[in-house]
Amino acid sequence: MKVFVVGCGTMGSGIAQCFAQSGFSVVMYDTKDEYVERGYNLINKSLTKLVEKGKMDEDKKNSILNNITKSVNIEDAKDADLVVEAVFENIEVKKDIFSRLDVICKEDTVLATNTSSLSITEIAASTKRPEKVIGMHFFNPAPVMKLIEIIRGITTSDETFEKIKDISIKIGKDPVEVKESAGFVVNRLLIPMINEAVALLAEGVATAEDIDKAMKLGANHPMGPLELADFIGNDVNLAIMETLYNETGDSKYRPHPLLRKMVRAGYLGRKTGRGFYTYK
Ligand code: 3HC
Repeated sequence: MKVFVVGCGTMGSGIAQCFAQSGFSVVMYDTKDEYVERGYNLINKSLTKLVEKGKMDEDKKNSILNNITKSVNIEDAKDADLVVEAVFENIEVKKDIFSRLDVICKEDTVLATNTSSLSITEIAASTKRPEKVIGMHFFNPAPVMKLIEIIRGITTSDETFEKIKDISIKIGKDPVEVKESAGFVVNRLLIPMINEAVALLAEGVATAEDIDKAMKLGANHPMGPLELADFIGNDVNLAIMETLYNETGDSKYRPHPLLRKMVRAGYLGRKTGRGFYTYK
């Protein structure tokens, strides 16, 4: 089975790694060689760490890397059995990619999106195969996190859902079924919590360190909310809050002005070296 992954950022490369580790043949596609190389290097680094820790041998690492092909030509999706799209959260960009893939791919190819909150139904409507379009939402770091939210758009068929459920289990994940709704399940709970942590910080109720410590020690979260905000990326956090707010019109989802300011300043978190914390 051949999987074509669109987008080689943190999520795209993590997703490609999940499939390659489970023996699938994977094509990593992005628009520029440098993006594909960067994604491939992330996988190489992640596997090298496992080898260093004695959790994988060099032969296994090489066989996983051998399952991966690099591409900057979207036409290479023509013989894929499954496409997983993981580009940035812009509905117009996603719709454009899906309408092109619809023409290129075989008739029975399922087109999945890793969108964190956009409408599966709207993305599906940009194709002539809306019953074969579905959400396959991975969590960062994708090779470690067990969950996949499988999101059904209004047009997604039962057959497509069952196929993706099967594949999710084959790559060692434990999926949940979610009907389309802004933020799905995890982000509807997680991102408002992060937004509330930003409010606590802005009001001077506690320091960033103490807000995080409180949730790590008081709720057993592996990362505090502000540490997690930096890990996810504040641009992504803001985009999800905006979707929740715009889709529902409910003021409880209003993005906190400090979150907006952080994004305007380029304080996106780990990826820019500065967010609620600074990184080397
Ligand atoms: N690739 C492969 N393995 C990785 C990895 C990667 N990129 N990153 C970490 N790991 C492995 C490590 O090798 C280690 O394995 P081991 O226990 O077998 O030795 C294990 O994961 C734990 O890693 P570390 O020891 O380095 O560090 P931690 O114990 O601090 O765990 C963490 C790191 C798994 C990231 C943990 O802090 C965590 O679970 N944080 C919360 C992550 C989270 O909530 N993610 C969801 C974000 S929301 C999202 O993605 C949705 C989107 O739409 C916004």
